[in-house]
Amino acid sequence: MTARGVFITLEGGDGSGKSTQLEALVSWLEQQARTVLTTREPGGTELGEELREIVLHSRGYITAKSEALIYAADRAHHIATKVRPALERGEVVVQDRYFDSSVAYQGVGRELGAEEVRRISLWAVDGLLPDLTILLDIDPEEGLARLPGSRTRFDRLEAEQLEFHARVRNAYLELAAAEPERFLVLDATLPVEELAKRIQERVASILG
Ligand code: TYD
Repeated sequence: MTARGVFITLEGGDGSGKSTQLEALVSWLEQQARTVLTTREPGGTELGEELREIVLHSRGYITAKSEALIYAADRAHHIATKVRPALERGEVVVQDRYFDSSVAYQGVGRELGAEEVRRISLWAVDGLLPDLTILLDIDPEEGLARLPGSRTRFDRLEAEQLEFHARVRNAYLELAAAEPERFLVLDATLPVEELAKRIQERVASILG
C-alpha cells in the first residue's frame, strides 16, 4: 500500500474557489519540474464521468444511500485505475475532492452517518489516505453566491438548502480538527494570491 508519489486533495463547499487554487497549485508544481496528475471526483475516468452525470444531473429522485454508493463506485474505479498507478510512478496527484466530500455531504449533509460513510469510502479505495488535504473554508451563503449562473442551473447538490450546506461546512471543520496533520484549513475569502502562496508553502514542506 505504500505509494511513492504524493497525494494531495482539495476540499471545500460549493463556490469555495477550489478550481482556481487547484490550477494555481498545478502550474506551480509543473514549474518545479514535477510530474503532476490533475484529476477530480466525481469523474476522472470514462466510467466516472458517466457516474458524475448521473449523480449530479439525474432528473429523477436518488435515495441518499444510492447517492453515497454512486460516489463510492466512482471513487473505487478512479483510485484503482488512475490514481494508484500515478502514485506508483512517483507522480504528484492533485485531486479535486475525495472521500472527505462523501463524509461531509453524504455522511453529515444527507445524515447517513459520518463513520459509516467513511468506512464505505475507505473500503472502496483499500484505505488510501491523502498526504495532504487542503480545505478551503467558506460561509455557504457566500460560497453559493460566488457560483456562476442562477440557482436554477445548480446541480443536485448545489441546489440543496442552506441548512444542508451549513452542515457540510461544519462537518469539514470537524474532520480537519480530528486530523490536523493531514489538513491545511484556509479561509477561502482571503485573496487568491495569498491562498496560493500558503498552499505552495505547505506543499513545498511535504515534497521535501
Ligand atoms: P464539484 O466537482 O466540486 O462541482 P463543480 O464542478 O460544480 O464545482 O463537485 C460536484 C458536487 O458533488 C459537489 O456539490 C459536491 C458533491 N460531492 C458529494 O456530495 N460527495 C462526494 O463524495 C463528492 C466527491 C462530491
